[in-house]
Amino acid sequence: MAAITEKMQDALNGQITAEMYSTNLYLAMAAYFESLDLAGFAHWMRVQAKEEDFHVHKLFDYITERGGRVVIGAVEAPPVEWASPLEAFESTYEHEQEVSAMVSKLVEVAQAENDRATESYLRWFVDEQVEEEASVDRVVKMLRLGDGQPVAMLMLDREMSARPEPTPPTPAE
Ligand code: FEO
Repeated sequence: MAAITEKMQDALNGQITAEMYSTNLYLAMAAYFESLDLAGFAHWMRVQAKEEDFHVHKLFDYITERGGRVVIGAVEAPPVEWASPLEAFESTYEHEQEVSAMVSKLVEVAQAENDRATESYLRWFVDEQVEEEASVDRVVKMLRLGDGQPVAMLMLDREMSARPEPTPPTPAE
């Protein structure tokens, strides 16, 4: 199979930078939750950060496999504070929607470049975004229901601590 085009390679490299930002954003949120002594929420965010790191490596592997060159770009620093746990999760939800839009753009580039292999490969990311948005939306709804009440927050924190460690996706996935 022919190597990926430069345009496709650049677009995928841009996604690597975005996924690195996501990793750092969720680590920053984990630190924010640690500062509130919400260890369960912090754990959830650390797991999320690991998932984002898997996305970075998955893209890295794909570009390399297709004879492209990975370029690591500058990553903007994430925020440090949020007004409340709810606000942190609302921004997580917005962020994941932006990532979903970026993945859709990548699919468009693949189509414009007539790169069926990359288009097919990106299906995994399209599906992953559906899952990510749904799981964050669920937490946003639970936080709204809990309305910042201490008992509700403690119960939620316990639930968040049960998020299992992620398993890395295989390159073929
Ligand atoms: Fe890698 Fe949360 O998107």
